[in-house]
Amino acid sequence: MTAPILTVAAVSKRFGPTVALDRVDLSIRAGEVVALMGANGAGKSTLVKILSGVYGPDGGELWLRGQPFRPASPHDAKQLGIATVHQSIADAVVPTLSIADNLLLDRLCDPTSPWRVPPAVRRQTAAPLAARVGLDVDLAAPLASLSLASQQLVTLARALATRPALLILDEPTASLSAPEAERLFGLIDRLRAEGVAILLVSHRLGDLRRVAGRVTIVRDGRIVADLPAPIDFDAAVETMIGRPLRSNAAANANATAAAAATAASSACFSVRDLQLTSASVPFDLDVQRGEIVAIAGPVGGGKSRFARAIFGAGRAASGTMTLDGKAWRPRSPADAIRAGVFLAGEDRWRTSLFPDSVPFASIAGTLSFPFLSRWFKYGGLKRAREQRAALEAIERFGIRCTGPDDRLNRLSGGNQQKVVLARWHTQPARLLLLDEPFQGVDAGARADIVDTLRRHAQERATLVFVSDLEEAFEIADRVVRFDRATLDRVSQSDFTSHARS
Ligand SMILES: Nc1ncnc2c1ncn2[C@@H]1O[C@H](COP(=O)(O)OP(=O)(O)OP(=O)(O)O)[C@@H](O)[C@H]1O
Ligand SMILES: [Mg+2]
Repeated sequence: MTAPILTVAAVSKRFGPTVALDRVDLSIRAGEVVALMGANGAGKSTLVKILSGVYGPDGGELWLRGQPFRPASPHDAKQLGIATVHQSIADAVVPTLSIADNLLLDRLCDPTSPWRVPPAVRRQTAAPLAARVGLDVDLAAPLASLSLASQQLVTLARALATRPALLILDEPTASLSAPEAERLFGLIDRLRAEGVAILLVSHRLGDLRRVAGRVTIVRDGRIVADLPAPIDFDAAVETMIGRPLRSNAAANANATAAAAATAASSACFSVRDLQLTSASVPFDLDVQRGEIVAIAGPVGGGKSRFARAIFGAGRAASGTMTLDGKAWRPRSPADAIRAGVFLAGEDRWRTSLFPDSVPFASIAGTLSFPFLSRWFKYGGLKRAREQRAALEAIERFGIRCTGPDDRLNRLSGGNQQKVVLARWHTQPARLLLLDEPFQGVDAGARADIVDTLRRHAQERATLVFVSDLEEAFEIADRVVRFDRATLDRVSQSDFTSHARS
C-alpha cells in the first residue's frame, strides 16, 4: 500500500463552548475517494476548513506527504497542494466580476504576482480551466448571470487550476441536477485515475454510492467509524445519526389517503395557461388544500422562476393564478407574506434570508423578520416573542446551536437551512412554497422535516420544487415533472422503473 498523502492525527477544534472536533484521526492515499459522512453540525466543514488553512487546529497534528503540515492561510494550503471547494458558493465568488476573472481569482488576488493582463488574454487563460469541468459559457459575462450550478463549476474549475494532490469537495452536488452531478463524478473518476486524493462531503447517498471508496463517519466531532468498500450505506446512516432512520412509508400512506379525501374539494391554488417566459409552453396546475405537490425538474428548468412568480418576487409572461377562488397577482413578496403565501428560496443567502446583513443576524431575528409588522404592532413584546418562536423552532427542527441568539454564520450549513424552513412555520401559511428545501440537510433531519411538513400539511397547500426525483417522492402526495416549463404527471411506477434502469 502507498503511504498516505494526508494524515490527520488527534485534531481538535472548539468554538467557545462548542467542541466542533474532538481528537479526529483520518488519512487519505493518492487515487482514493474518501467520503466524510456526518449529521448537520457534526464537524465536517470545520475539518475541511482546518485542512484548507481557513482555521488553525487547537490541538493535534497534520502531515502532508510525510511532512508536518500547518497551513497559515488558504493560499498556503493551495500552494502545498490542497484545493478546496467550500460548501458556501457565495463566499467563493465575486458576482460582479466576469466568469473569466472568477476562474482566475486566485491569481488576481495574489499580491506576490502582479498579474495584469488585458481581458481578452484573461479569457484565453481561463478557457482551458472552464473546459476541464465542461463549463461551456461566454467567459466575458458577469458571474451573476450563471445559475448556482454553473457557479459551483466555476469554483471547482478554479480549485483544479492548481493541480492539487488532494481535492476537497464540501457538498458539491447540493445545487446540481442529476446530469450535472454525473458530470462531476466523471471528473472525479478521471482525477482519481490521475492519482489525486479526494475528500468528499455529501448528504446525498446516491453521490456516496457512486464514488466513495471508503467512508469515514463523524458524530459530534468524533470519528466513530471508518468503513472500507463494500459499504453498507443503510448501516452507515444509522451510525451517523446514532439511531435507526425513521421510515416515512406510513406517513406517506396517511397523507395519500388525506389527499384523496380533499381531492374532491376545489383547488386552493390554480394556474391557467401560465407562461413563465414569452418563449415557454403554457401550463395548468391545481393544488388542493392539504396536498403536498412536488414540482420535479432539472436545475435551470424554470422551477425557481415559477416559485418566485407565485411569491411576487418575479413575473410570469402571461396566464393567470388563483388563490382560494380569487385572482392572485402579488406585486411583491411583502404582499405575498401578508396573504399567507411563503417561499423558502433555493439560495438561502440571496433569496430567503433578506436583508443583506442577515448572515450576521441571530436565529431569533431571522425567524421574526418577515412578520415584524404583524407580531410587533404594539412594540415592547418583541424580544420575548422572538425568543419563544426561536426556542420552538430550534426544538421542532432540531437546529444544532447554543441558543436563539446564535448568529447564522456560526451555524453549520444544514442548520442554516433548517432556520430557513423553520421561519415559514412560525406563522400559518395558506400556500407554502419550498424551493430545494433539503439542500445540505442530513438524512435523519430530512426524515424529521418531512414529518413536520406532513403534520402541518392539512392547514395549507404545499408546493415543493426539487431536482431530485427521489426527494420528490419522499415528500409529496403527487409529483409533477417540470421540464423547460412544460408539466407532465409522473407516477411512482414511472419513477421506480426509471430508477432501476
Ligand atoms: N465560526 C464558528 N463559530 C462558532 N461555532 C461554529 C463556527 N463554525 C462552526 N461552528 C459550530 O461547530 C459545529 C460543527 O459545524 P460544522 O460546520 O463543521 O458542521 P458540518 O458537519 O459541516 O454540518 P453540515 O452538514 O450542516 O454542513 C456546529 O455546532 C457549528 O455550529
Ligand atoms: Mg458543513
